Amino acid sequence: MNKKVLLLASIVAGGYYITKRNPKARLDQYNGSGQTVLITGASGGIGQEMAFVFARHHFNVVAVARNEAKLNALKDELENSYDVEVTTIVKDLSNESAAKEIYDEVKEKGIVIDQLVNNAGAGKQSTVADANPETMLSLIHLNVSAVTLLSHYFVKDMVERGSGRILNVSSMGAFIPDPYFNVYGPTKAYEMYLTQGMYGELKDTGVTVTALCPGPTKTNWATNAGKADSKMAKSAEQVAQGRLLRYAEWGSDRYS
Ligand SMILES: NC(=O)c1ccc[n+]([C@@H]2O[C@H](COP(=O)([O-])OP(=O)(O)OC[C@H]3O[C@@H](n4cnc5c(N)ncnc54)[C@H](OP(=O)(O)O)[C@@H]3O)[C@@H](O)[C@H]2O)c1
Repeated sequence: MNKKVLLLASIVAGGYYITKRNPKARLDQYNGSGQTVLITGASGGIGQEMAFVFARHHFNVVAVARNEAKLNALKDELENSYDVEVTTIVKDLSNESAAKEIYDEVKEKGIVIDQLVNNAGAGKQSTVADANPETMLSLIHLNVSAVTLLSHYFVKDMVERGSGRILNVSSMGAFIPDPYFNVYGPTKAYEMYLTQGMYGELKDTGVTVTALCPGPTKTNWATNAGKADSKMAKSAEQVAQGRLLRYAEWGSDRYS
C-alpha cells in the first residue's frame, strides 16, 4: 500500500516537474494559436529563426524586412510547414516614417499584434571620426528610432487589451564600449535601457517587455558590419530557441 502511494506521489511530482518546472517541457506546451507576432528583420538570421519558432508554436507571423524575395520565400515555407498565416511587409526601417507606416498597414489589414519582436539591427566597423555621417544616422534610425516608435505604437494597443509582449533584440555589445565599432554598442545600450524603463512603466498592465542580449551569432550580421565571424559564435537557431525557452521558464513578469 505504502509503495503504491509512493509510486503515485512520484508520478504526480514527476508530471509537475515536467510540465511546470522544466522549461523545455513548458516550451513544448507553449501555444500561440490565434495570436500574431510581428518580427522585424525576419528575412534572415535570428529573426528568421524566431519566425520558425513562433510558427511551430502556432503563431501567425507578420514578417518585416527590406528583401521582398526572402520574405516571400519565408512566407511559403512557413505556410506550407505549419497551419499559420504569414503577412509580409517590405520596409526599410532606417526611414523615419517606417514604424508608423507598418502600424498603419497592420491596422488596415485588421491584424492584432499580440507580440512584437524588434529584431532588425545592424552595425558598421568604423571610428566615429571616420564613419560616414549618413551611415551612422541610418544605423541610429534602425537600431533606436524604429525600435522606440514600433514599441510606442503597438504597446498602447497591448495595454488597452491588458495583454501583450515585446522582445527587443539588443546585444552583449550593450555592455562593452567597443572602439572602432562605435555607434552600434551605444544603440544597443539604448535598447536595453529603453526595455528596462518600459518594464517599470508596464508593471501590472498585463504587458511585458524583454531585452535579449545575444553574444556572437552565425548570421550575415558580422559580414555586413565589416567584422570577422567569432569562433565562439552560436547558431541563430540556438539563440532563437533559447529566447522562447526563457519565456516559458520565467512566465510573464520578468525582463532580462
Ligand atoms: N549576429 C550577431 O553576432 C549578433 C549578436 C548580438 C546581437 N545581434 C542582433 O541581432 C539582431 C538580428 O541580427 P542578425 O545577426 O540576425 O543579423 P542579419 O543576419 O544581418 O539579419 C538582420 C535582419 O535585419 C533586417 N534588416 C537590416 N537592416 C534593415 C533595415 N534597414 N530595414 C529593415 N530590415 C532590416 C535584414 O533584412 P533585409 O536585409 O531583408 O532588410 C535581416 O532580416 C540585430 O539587432 C543584431 O544587432 C546580432
